[in-house]
Amino acid sequence: MADPRPWPPTPFLYDRPVPPEELIDRQSELAKLLELADAGQSVRVSAPRRYGKTTLLRKTLVEADRLGMASVYVDLDRVVSLEGISDRVEAAYRNQLQGPIRRSIVNVLRTLRPRASAGAAGARVEIAPSADADARRTLERMLDLPVDIHRKTGRRTLVVFDEFQHVLRVGAEVEGIFRSHVQHQAAEASYVFAGSHPGLLATIFGDRERPFFGQARPLDLAPLPDDALADYIDSRFAQTGKEAGVALEALLDLARGHPQRAMLLAHHLWEQTPPGTSADFDTWAGVLEAVDRELHESFDRMWDRLRVNESRVLAALCASDASLFNQRTLAQFGLSKSGAEQGRDKLIEFGDVLEPGGGRLLVVDPLLERWVRTYHIRTYYGEFTLGDSGARAETP
Ligand SMILES: Nc1ncnc2c1ncn2[C@@H]1O[C@H](COP(=O)(O)OP(=O)(O)O)[C@@H](O)[C@H]1O
Ligand SMILES: [Mg+2]
Repeated sequence: MADPRPWPPTPFLYDRPVPPEELIDRQSELAKLLELADAGQSVRVSAPRRYGKTTLLRKTLVEADRLGMASVYVDLDRVVSLEGISDRVEAAYRNQLQGPIRRSIVNVLRTLRPRASAGAAGARVEIAPSADADARRTLERMLDLPVDIHRKTGRRTLVVFDEFQHVLRVGAEVEGIFRSHVQHQAAEASYVFAGSHPGLLATIFGDRERPFFGQARPLDLAPLPDDALADYIDSRFAQTGKEAGVALEALLDLARGHPQRAMLLAHHLWEQTPPGTSADFDTWAGVLEAVDRELHESFDRMWDRLRVNESRVLAALCASDASLFNQRTLAQFGLSKSGAEQGRDKLIEFGDVLEPGGGRLLVVDPLLERWVRTYHIRTYYGEFTLGDSGARAETP
């Protein structure tokens, strides 16, 4: 059967982490991560979802490997049990290491995971009564694998735990288990803990009462710079016989450096620009329509899950740059001061709104912001601008 994909395939990936060689910018973050890894220092990388954490961390692991470290990437996304964590750690060591290091680690793993000799190949022996203690012991042993690697080869291991906040779902003791192993491996390992949920990460690393308090240096990811995005997009268009033309500026304005949103817009722009031509404002209008079609349902679902104060705060932030707490804004969006604070705090906690400093509040996703402005503010409030002295708002 013929390959149904258009040819050439899109040069803009936006639905998965980008291969290390495709990284745009992030050179200073990369250098910092490698420097800290080399010094045995743990780091926590915190940034909103889709900001390029995984992309950057994969690149870091490739470079760490070149520098002579063993490198392991453990994805903890949606993990819910101790067994689940151990499975992810095991898979990472099995699949990502090579040569003699891998062989020696596989030997250790074999002693940890007795396999059933009869029955389904590879099925694990079930020992129900002590299952919990077993799961704990297995995980603890796995967290010490960098010590084995160091003993065998003298090499340091860089271990990345991505979406680390999900360990909180597993149980109260898990943070302590990680901490008690990680803290004794200054010579053998360096760690990166990454996550998309600012509230949960702050809980793990910023709460004095918890095992990880003060244990990892914070590294935040900023939006990507416009010039780096423009160079990348321009060159991909040129390589495939197209030009982004006047639409490029509109794209950069809308994306405001959001990595995944910039790539999603670039993909649609590329798709709608016929070969051998340059995109124009009509092309751009088509891009916005396509993006609305693609994202409408997920935004709608997100909106439905918001509590009343959260949706009002989000609407207010999307409507204008005026301070959320000015009397007009509060009145216009049916918010009390405490309701606005509550809504704001929740949106920040979940990573939908950022506080970039100076008391400003920024909606993280520029396409969500556009969607709220288009579908909610217009619908509920009619066409108006907040500065307009004649504007009157009804409560949604
Ligand atoms: N430095 C980068 N260079 C190129 N594309 C990037 C970069 N960072 C993020 N992206 C884009 O953003 C998308 C999401 O990146 P990802 O690393 O999965 O983010 P996160 O792990 O923070 O959720 C990728 O598919 C890619 O399109
Ligand atoms: Mg990720």
